[in-house]
Amino acid sequence: MINLHAILSFIKFYFKASTFYRVHSPFLFELLENTIEDQRRFYAFDRIEKYRRQLKKDTTILAVEDLGAGSKKSNTKQRSIRSIVNSAVSPPYQGQILYKLLQHLGAKNIIELGTSLGITSLYLSTYSNQVKLVTLEGSSAIMDKAKSAFKLFPNQQIKSILGHFDQTLPQAIAQLDQLDVCYIDGNHAKDPTIRYFENCLPHIHEHSVLIFDDIYWSKGMTEAWEQIKKHKSVKLSLDLYFFGLVFFNQDIKEKQHFKIISSRFKFWQRYI
Ligand SMILES: C[S@@+](CC[C@H](N)C(=O)[O-])C[C@H]1O[C@@H](n2cnc3c(N)ncnc32)[C@H](O)[C@@H]1O
Repeated sequence: MINLHAILSFIKFYFKASTFYRVHSPFLFELLENTIEDQRRFYAFDRIEKYRRQLKKDTTILAVEDLGAGSKKSNTKQRSIRSIVNSAVSPPYQGQILYKLLQHLGAKNIIELGTSLGITSLYLSTYSNQVKLVTLEGSSAIMDKAKSAFKLFPNQQIKSILGHFDQTLPQAIAQLDQLDVCYIDGNHAKDPTIRYFENCLPHIHEHSVLIFDDIYWSKGMTEAWEQIKKHKSVKLSLDLYFFGLVFFNQDIKEKQHFKIISSRFKFWQRYI
């Protein structure tokens, strides 16, 4: 099904977005240089993408309990692993940006809302074996599949919690010493997204980052993103179209909002 909101939002985003060549903040410039502008491939990427390729061939049917606002393309209860990986899982480029972002930030205590088959969980947990990831999923059949993949990465500290985010997010927060990064990629609707943001707020520190996936997936998600950006604790927002990130650094005196696209897609900004 064509998502008109997402398409129109992308056109607007494309025309408004700048590249890192137009960014003056040293903090943001370095972050972009080490994430969306960084072409390095790490060994972990090949292992994770090998797992994705296996899933793409897997026609096993799972009974999926859908606790969220749709799984991006389909609400069916019986779904093949192949269809889940094709419709509900973030693509390699996005997982790899998350990996590099965590590495750049040195983030160690991470929560993921929406494990699905565990592909992004692996990107979130493999840059260092000191990372502690707590990943949350509502569908038991899907989580079982993800857990079997996590066993292939025995050096990683990944803990899975099954249940509705409303119950499992407070449990996950309680299991970490602090909350460095929370990646919210499930239940893509306005009110729950704002609720998860508010649940995280009492536990963030100056260098925490909250990442919202699919901020242009629906009008409600875009409204949630706009509301989150305006919150008084947010000092900087970064809109990459596929993710929105909010930062809380106290040394940023004036709130700033950026829409940034990789310089590959606006290459002339390298020169003018
Ligand atoms: C978009 S997928 C996550 C994709 C995953 N982060 C990745 O990129 O590999 C969202 C997942 O969140 C789960 N989910 C949605 N709403 C939920 C809720 N309210 N509580 C628990 N799980 C939920 C769905 O079952 C689904 O597997």
